[in-house]
Amino acid sequence: MNRRHCANVSAEVDDSPTALLELAIDFAERVADRHAAGGTGDVDSKSSSTDPVTQVDTDSEQMITEAIRATRPNDGIFGEEGIDVTGTSGFRWIIDPLDGTVNYLYGFAAHAVSIAVEQTSQGETTTIVGVVHDTALGNVYSAAAGNGAWVHRGEQLPRLLRANDVSDPGHALLATGFGYDPEVRRAQGKTIAQLLPQVRDIRRAGSAALDMCFVASGSVDAYYETGPHLWDVAAGSLIVTEAGGRVTYDPDRRRVIAAGRYLYDPLEDMIVAAENRG
Ligand code: IPD
Repeated sequence: MNRRHCANVSAEVDDSPTALLELAIDFAERVADRHAAGGTGDVDSKSSSTDPVTQVDTDSEQMITEAIRATRPNDGIFGEEGIDVTGTSGFRWIIDPLDGTVNYLYGFAAHAVSIAVEQTSQGETTTIVGVVHDTALGNVYSAAAGNGAWVHRGEQLPRLLRANDVSDPGHALLATGFGYDPEVRRAQGKTIAQLLPQVRDIRRAGSAALDMCFVASGSVDAYYETGPHLWDVAAGSLIVTEAGGRVTYDPDRRRVIAAGRYLYDPLEDMIVAAENRG
């Protein structure tokens, strides 16, 4: 176990992925209670008039931020609702306090809190913990680097996750999503129109974090979207790779492809061809 003495706190800090995972699950469970408490408070809009932010989004980010500061004051924090703190410990928390805000507003049962921890060591950054708590249905998806991906609900025993082994994109159930900007959607729609006749079918659940978990659990074969931010996909990426799948996320184009290991390459070829045809 890697123990580091932290100057600002008197107790020793446990930096192991399993200890950080325990903390992340605890923080996610507290936020799940906030989601369950319901109400939206004031509803504002962000990037476009259809991109909502509710009091629940901001309360949830504040709750997680306070919990991190109380337990790990030297860590960095980066979240959807504006928190961006540089730490000194080499660890950074990446938070989407409420992914699937539109679903939450409508009572559509697909929304989550997503928490990842990345570690930077000798110039290399890797994600070591990912938790996506499905706050509508109560499923908690989690992974610590090297320890597999798991799902549990309440007191249930955790179940190991495994991405599907399908290799033919023509038989793949593909999840996707759309941004809030009408121009971005027009481009996304064109690519999806190219892909739709070539795959088994398309699903659009409305939460990128959950879409990634659906790849990990085999509820879909793959997920592709151009537009998600790091906070949407950071935790889910580790959950997919720990479930034996493959993920790429290009932070400049904000394009994510997540799929089972045999499907990834042929699917990526199909996506690139569809994007190029426009
Ligand atoms: C959105 C959801 C959606 C995805 C969008 C995201 P938000 O996040 O994850 O499924 O298609 O790209 O922006 O706004 O609900 O936090």
